[in-house]
Amino acid sequence: MRHFPAFLNLKDRAAFVLGSGDAVEIKAGLLARAGAVLHRAPRFGRDGQAGDLPEGCAIAIGSGAPDEDLEALFHACQERGVPVNIVDRPALSSFIMPSIIDRAPVTIGISTGGAAPVLARLLRARIESMLPPALGRLAALAERFRELLRSTIPSPPARRRFLDAVLTGPVADLVLAGREVEAEAAFSTALSKADRAPPGIVHLVGAGPGAGDLLTLRALRLLGEADVIVHDRLVGNEVLELARRDAERIYVGKQRARHCLPQEGINELLINLARQGKRVVRLKGGDPFIFGRGGEELEACRKAGVACEVVPGVTAALACAASAGIPLTHRDHARIVTFVTGHTKDGRLDLDFAALSRPEQTLAVYMGVSTLRKLRHGLVAEGLDPMTPVALIESGGTDGQRVLLGTLDGIAEKAAQWHQGGPVMTLVGTVVAGWSPSLTSSRAPVVGSFGL
Ligand SMILES: C[S@@+](CC[C@H](N)C(=O)[O-])C[C@H]1O[C@@H](n2cnc3c(N)ncnc32)[C@H](O)[C@@H]1O
Repeated sequence: MRHFPAFLNLKDRAAFVLGSGDAVEIKAGLLARAGAVLHRAPRFGRDGQAGDLPEGCAIAIGSGAPDEDLEALFHACQERGVPVNIVDRPALSSFIMPSIIDRAPVTIGISTGGAAPVLARLLRARIESMLPPALGRLAALAERFRELLRSTIPSPPARRRFLDAVLTGPVADLVLAGREVEAEAAFSTALSKADRAPPGIVHLVGAGPGAGDLLTLRALRLLGEADVIVHDRLVGNEVLELARRDAERIYVGKQRARHCLPQEGINELLINLARQGKRVVRLKGGDPFIFGRGGEELEACRKAGVACEVVPGVTAALACAASAGIPLTHRDHARIVTFVTGHTKDGRLDLDFAALSRPEQTLAVYMGVSTLRKLRHGLVAEGLDPMTPVALIESGGTDGQRVLLGTLDGIAEKAAQWHQGGPVMTLVGTVVAGWSPSLTSSRAPVVGSFGL
């Protein structure tokens, strides 16, 4: 974060405005809207004296005045610890003014850290068009009920849940339609019927391959409503950033042979949190039901009588295939797709190799980068051509995506040099031969060829 956003209470505070012109007028207007008392001057203490700042000055802005005056204002403010902004002069500013959306009491500030003010204005226009003009009235209604709400529903998670429902349901519709008296009545009725201690719930949520914009809308909503987020290694910061700021985050690890918390411990944790009345999001990489032990967590919750719902995610095979431009099925190549694990049991890759070597099939092998030799051996022994194309996709669907191409023969040796430690998806089948660099994102370095 380049600048820390904070909202100042300027009501009845002195604000110094130096200079003239459109830029300073717009900013002065915003200060006045926030209740500041404006002190205006065309020039500023020419000897660099701080004396021209008004008593108790809380903020200062300047533009459209001689350079030496603007500089003097900056130095005077620095001396006195007064926040100052000289328009378009970052070196003479201790804060920047964001693009503002004003739906008082709702205020939204957008900043690009000074990098691209035009982008901030574009974003503002886009967000403005999404927000109803009466949004402020909805916030004001919630404020009027604040004390009553606290005493009626003392539990913060329960209160949050009540507000989530009310502020997005019929009460909101009434406020936005300008029917505020009816909205107040509906709010009171909902409050009198509110469940003071609603039971907790576990949502098993698929986080997809790591990119925030590959989450489902439902996953995004649940992340915004969660009291606790229990996540593992494959869930990256880009997704976690989208969760409610004050949601508790619990990392439970899960890395091959380095589990932070054993599966039974995770099951117990989810159940205990839900029994405290919390809304728990169990966030899992990809899809919870594809090699994610989501089934075990669902079963444990059900056995314990805890409500549990599953939200699908984009599984690694789909994300990797899409971002590398490799179609998993293709009329000329594959009519079957098989998701299979390359994870060994007691050192053996115990798979039905006869079924996996059938023609017109694409294999998507999870957790298989360290067992490629065993995979090749099993498939070729059942008659699959050793020259069958293979693609390894590391950290697919993220900015760090890398692709290695080869054939069943030789791919294990190449992979040993190439692998950088990220999760790897192995795609096997003739669909890989049609791989087209033009379809992939430019950020994906590709190594190798098929030797066909
Ligand atoms: C325990 S499995 C979890 C799979 C996950 N539930 C899913 O649906 O994608 C972990 C394996 O998924 C694959 N994987 C997960 N994320 C990946 C990514 N971004 N790129 C490549 N492979 C990935 C790798 O094979 C990794 O070893």
